[in-house]
Amino acid sequence: MQGPVIPWRPGRADRDVSFCTPDGRLPDASKNHDHLRAIFNRMGFNDQEIVALSGAHALGRCHTDRSGFDGPWTFSPTVLTNDYYALLMDEKWQWKKWNGPAQLEDKKTKSLMMLPTDYALIKDKSFRKTVELYARDNDAFFKDFSEVVMKLFELGVPFTASEESRFRFKPSE
Ligand code: HEM
Repeated sequence: MQGPVIPWRPGRADRDVSFCTPDGRLPDASKNHDHLRAIFNRMGFNDQEIVALSGAHALGRCHTDRSGFDGPWTFSPTVLTNDYYALLMDEKWQWKKWNGPAQLEDKKTKSLMMLPTDYALIKDKSFRKTVELYARDNDAFFKDFSEVVMKLFELGVPFTASEESRFRFKPSE
């Protein structure tokens, strides 16, 4: 997808069902900045990292038969770019009038979408600072995205002591 190399190491083991994380801990796209922090701080991610992770929404789309939301975030949903941030900053976003969950559409083409949680990234002052940075600096986005996705994918991997030095944080729960 033409994004940065992400040197993550697999290793989460299959466990008995009793070890499964309870339902209801994924982010809820209809919510706001407080909710994003409640979900991601628990896993050790700060404001900058929450914004960097959200850049994955340059890819793919929402489906009415899955989440209920509809549409892609960018015009090139199979290529990783910083367009998600540039579009958030540069386009006018309005609430879509439709018979579905509250989401935003770009005023100009009405063909792109943002979730309420995406929009929260430019409404909140601290999040917005990082959106502005990534919107004008694709290299900074690629570097931070690679690091933060590695951190996300390696959560819960039982590294040995010698590998541990690369495991730079501990989730709080
Ligand atoms: C910040 C909180 C997040 C929320 C609320 C959220 C919510 C959503 C929703 C509602 C969809 C649409 C699902 C569908 O209808 O098929 C979606 C798709 C997607 N999300 Fe997120 N997401 C979040 C974070 C992330 C993160 C951290 C990543 C990866 C690093 C990610 C990557 C994706 C991708 C690639 C798709 C497109 C899937 C497809 O095309 O089928 N999202 N997300």
